[in-house]
Amino acid sequence: MLDIKITRTSTPKAKPEDESKLGFGKIFTDHMFVMDYTAGQGWHDARIVPYGPFQLDPATAVLHYAQEIFEGMKAYRTADGTVQLFRPDCNAKRMQDSADRLCIPAIPEEDYIQAVEAIVDVDRDWVPHTFGASLYIRPFAFATDVGLGVHASRHYTFCIICSPSGAYYAEGIDPVRIYVEDDYIRAAPGLTGFTKCGGNYAASIKAGELAEEQGYAQVLWLDGVEKKYVEEVGSMNIMFKIDGKVYTAATVGTVLPGVTRRSCIELLKDWGYEVIEGKLAIADVMQAARDGKLEEVFGTGTAAVVSPVKELVWKGEHAYIGDGKIGPVTQKLYDTMTGMQWGRLPDTKGWIVPVKPVY
Ligand SMILES: Cc1ncc(COP(=O)(O)O)c(C=O)c1O
Repeated sequence: MLDIKITRTSTPKAKPEDESKLGFGKIFTDHMFVMDYTAGQGWHDARIVPYGPFQLDPATAVLHYAQEIFEGMKAYRTADGTVQLFRPDCNAKRMQDSADRLCIPAIPEEDYIQAVEAIVDVDRDWVPHTFGASLYIRPFAFATDVGLGVHASRHYTFCIICSPSGAYYAEGIDPVRIYVEDDYIRAAPGLTGFTKCGGNYAASIKAGELAEEQGYAQVLWLDGVEKKYVEEVGSMNIMFKIDGKVYTAATVGTVLPGVTRRSCIELLKDWGYEVIEGKLAIADVMQAARDGKLEEVFGTGTAAVVSPVKELVWKGEHAYIGDGKIGPVTQKLYDTMTGMQWGRLPDTKGWIVPVKPVY
């Protein structure tokens, strides 16, 4: 159990009045959680302090060698005012897996969850009230040794910042066009694809920018060895409903094990769908489209929950999915997940964790 010291801001910011204009990740709450690590001492000095900049020596390790990991989750406000989290244990566990790969000392699961609950509790009033809007939570940890040289740092900082964010689908669910990336790769066996480390995202920016210039929302990554099998999208896992069955890449080293992916798979199985986690060749996806069997394609992730795909382009060939609108299974997943998250449906899965008022 962390002993969290709380220093409240003496100059609270005005909270945004118009929740329809929040956008994503642009404004931040009054406070942040911080904790330091020193080799030999472990994690120490857990504290909540006014939100503000870090002072970093120009030779700080993370700025040069990117020894950094992060998480992404949300706090949701229900109609009765309860503020709640969705499967925070999954994010805590994934943070540990990322930490292990990046040689960052693990943050115990219960400390991670306690820290998230504490900062959300302190900044509870910042959790938006509109259905679909939420408080985005960004935990991250980075190496703070000062000095050059590639080796595991002996000092780290763990921090959590929170950002009230608008409804992803404020204008209604809008299916997206996806560019199947055939040149750049995101991950390969033995690398860091299964982690949420900043470096994965830095390396993906170029492909994302090129796809965006051509009018595509995101890139669909293929496996890094043969560029044959579908893996995931820029910030989402991806599922394909072909001839009644749902296919998605297995999370075996190169794909981020998404919390939304896992939850959607559980729901789909509950509803009687066969879900196949394994290798799916992009050539077979395109063939299914030609045969009229590519029924639904959708991304899954914390930001959008589900994001229906209306078009894929691979090597110049376009595959159009359904009638360009959200499919019935995608819609049912969206309704069920958001229903539980915003407290409109009962939590039949034990996924919801209310944040008790403590501070
Ligand atoms: C690369 C990548 N894949 C998948 C996901 C979806 O993961 P989750 O459902 O836990 O948000 C994300 C978002 O965090 C991501 O960045």
